[in-house]
Amino acid sequence: MDLFELIRYRRSIRKYEGRQVAREDLEHIIEAGLYAPNAGGGQRSMIVALRDPRLVEAVGRMNVGKLDRSRLSSNYVSAEQPSIIDDPTLKSGFYGAPTVCAIFAQANFLYSIPDAFCCAENMVLAATELGIGSCIVARGEETFNSDYGRQLMQEWGVPAGYVARCFVLLGYCKGDYPAPKPRRPGRYTVVEANSHS
Ligand SMILES: Cc1cc2nc3c(=O)[nH]c(=O)nc-3n(C[C@H](O)[C@H](O)[C@H](O)COP(=O)(O)O)c2cc1C
Repeated sequence: MDLFELIRYRRSIRKYEGRQVAREDLEHIIEAGLYAPNAGGGQRSMIVALRDPRLVEAVGRMNVGKLDRSRLSSNYVSAEQPSIIDDPTLKSGFYGAPTVCAIFAQANFLYSIPDAFCCAENMVLAATELGIGSCIVARGEETFNSDYGRQLMQEWGVPAGYVARCFVLLGYCKGDYPAPKPRRPGRYTVVEANSHS
């Protein structure tokens, strides 16, 4: 697939096989994240990849525990790959993905959120190219906002002053891979040089 086909093919996967992602593939995906554009060239984001199923499940549950349903803009995400918004019985915000990468960034840096999501986007595209399913998940800061969460960050060597901005779930899609979603029309305008004449 060329890059544009890949961009159109990529979907958020929320149903995973138990099969683990190879370490070599994971490191390739992480490297793609590390090469993402980043504000001021500061390379401030940091990735922690979790591969222990019990830890992934525990942090995934912490992620759901922090979901504030009153702040959601919609209550429908996907019929084929239901999210925790679609299915309130789901207990983990990581959907059983065998590998979960937490992306941390400096809390007091203005562009830490876009930095982390640029990193995440590079990672999901690299995963798609390898035939690995992925999903970006939010609520990073809230997920670790507990004594246990802070203890984990310390154990993983996350520097003081950093917070999680998002997660990238990785694994193999269980069942049919979802079809491309049609794009909502009317979402762009091109202003040519002669538009005002
Ligand atoms: C900023 C951002 C936050 C997201 N947060 C979540 C999330 O917390 N949980 C989840 O299941 N999907 C999350 N997603 C994935 C979106 O739901 C998904 O990209 C969207 O529904 C479009 O579907 P597609 O990725 O399959 O094209 C997030 C995506 C972005 C860009």
